[in-house]
Amino acid sequence: GVSGKKVNVLVVGLDNSGKTTIIERLKPRPKQSAEVAPTVGFSVDELQKGSLTFTVFDMSGAGRYRTLWEQYYREADAVIFVVDSADKLRMVVARDEMEHMLAHPNLRKVPVVFFANKKDLPVAMPPVEIAQAAVTALPPCLGRWALGLDNIKDRPWQIVPSNGLSGEGIDKGVDWLAERLG
Ligand code: GTP
Ligand code: MG
Repeated sequence: GVSGKKVNVLVVGLDNSGKTTIIERLKPRPKQSAEVAPTVGFSVDELQKGSLTFTVFDMSGAGRYRTLWEQYYREADAVIFVVDSADKLRMVVARDEMEHMLAHPNLRKVPVVFFANKKDLPVAMPPVEIAQAAVTALPPCLGRWALGLDNIKDRPWQIVPSNGLSGEGIDKGVDWLAERLG
């Protein structure tokens, strides 16, 4: 196909947040897999997005593989950070991993899109709550910590609610990235 500028997009977030599902939705329909399995290590895909060719690094979010993420920070032109909006108990773990990533010297001040994924689930937190530092309406035992995105002042970021199953919201987030990469 016609390929324009090539950009490297790193896709991270905890295991089971929906990273691989979201990437499948970005592929042309005949190439989408119906079922996704947990990613082992990572996988790389090349996708066309308007005039951009995205090289997408789909990282495993499983604890034992998270140390692989930083191997790709230096090359990353953009980051997609996927959060399971319904996984309140692990929101604090997602926040830890995010802060660790943003503080890493190899990651440049590249734009980050946060997908507040699984917005279809009844217990999904709304994106404004996920962006807050703490959701005081929740008791601490329910993991009241959210991501605290307002602390990110050194790079462009955006949080977009998404549904990896229906594809809702995904184009919005990716278009926002593409605008900053074109
Ligand atoms: P790892 O590769 O293990 O890091 O996980 P992942 O982040 O790639 O998650 P994956 O795409 O494998 O999705 C995990 C599960 O969540 C699958 O059963 C998906 O079908 C499901 N899933 C993904 N997105 C959504 C969503 O928006 N809503 C709902 N209800 N389920 C979703
Ligand atoms: Mg995966």
